[in-house]
Amino acid sequence: MQIIDSKSTLRLALKNRINIGLVPTMGNLHAGHIQLVKLAKQHAECVVVSIFVNPLQFGANEDLASYPRTLAADCEKLEAAGADIVFTPSMAELYPNFDGIHLNQNITVNLPDIANILCGVSRPGHFAGVATIVTKLFNIVQPQIALFGKKDFQQLFIIRELVKQLNYPIEIIAGETVREISGLALSSRNGYLSETARANASQLNKALQVIINAIENGNTHFDALEKQTALELAAHGWLVDYISVRAVETLLPAKPNDKNLVVLGAAKIESTRLIDNIEFCAK
Ligand code: PAF
Repeated sequence: MQIIDSKSTLRLALKNRINIGLVPTMGNLHAGHIQLVKLAKQHAECVVVSIFVNPLQFGANEDLASYPRTLAADCEKLEAAGADIVFTPSMAELYPNFDGIHLNQNITVNLPDIANILCGVSRPGHFAGVATIVTKLFNIVQPQIALFGKKDFQQLFIIRELVKQLNYPIEIIAGETVREISGLALSSRNGYLSETARANASQLNKALQVIINAIENGNTHFDALEKQTALELAAHGWLVDYISVRAVETLLPAKPNDKNLVVLGAAKIESTRLIDNIEFCAK
């Protein structure tokens, strides 16, 4: 496995590769990321994993400074998983106008309204930051396939739309969410959880499951289900951002006749913001 930090060295290393798989990450890798790498190995001859904590997708009051950086441990896991190349660019490598303080990135990807709903409400500009860095990575790596986790459902939706509308010849492959036995979705941010918060963190997943059970029993009063669930989480000390039943194809609020549904939630437990979602097919 090669560890490469410059675009030019990476291009040289990829010159004769015909089937490249890209797994973009921000590091602090867990079993969810490793599953994506293994999935990439099944589809591509050369698997590139990028590790870059992207400032453009963090809001002013978010955890950019404290975001866990664990490169040595990440590389060990990637080597064991069979990654071929780890791309670990510096800030200046990805943001050519970076002056040591400011990114000076005044060309960004302009996203449709879908970026301003759900997580986009409390994280304005987040998805434009994601789309911009993913675009850069696509241009540098020029992969045939790229893999993203379903845990970030809205991100995955936006990236699929980006690839379609900007005509990237890249197939997007989605990896299933990996969970702890409790149901808690694996996330790099789980490391922030206190012992008490960790013990209660699976309540978010359980709350989404309660909504699914209700819908499976014929309840299509989605608004009421969302409000009731948010109140229950709040009663357990969560600061709820949203709980929402959406149509998988559009990510718009689900209508009673919609069949392919996804229930999404975002909420803070103590000071850690967690997201989760469950997809399901209504009868
Ligand atoms: O999902 C992530 O880890 C990030 O948003 C991504 C896709 C690597 C872009 O920085």
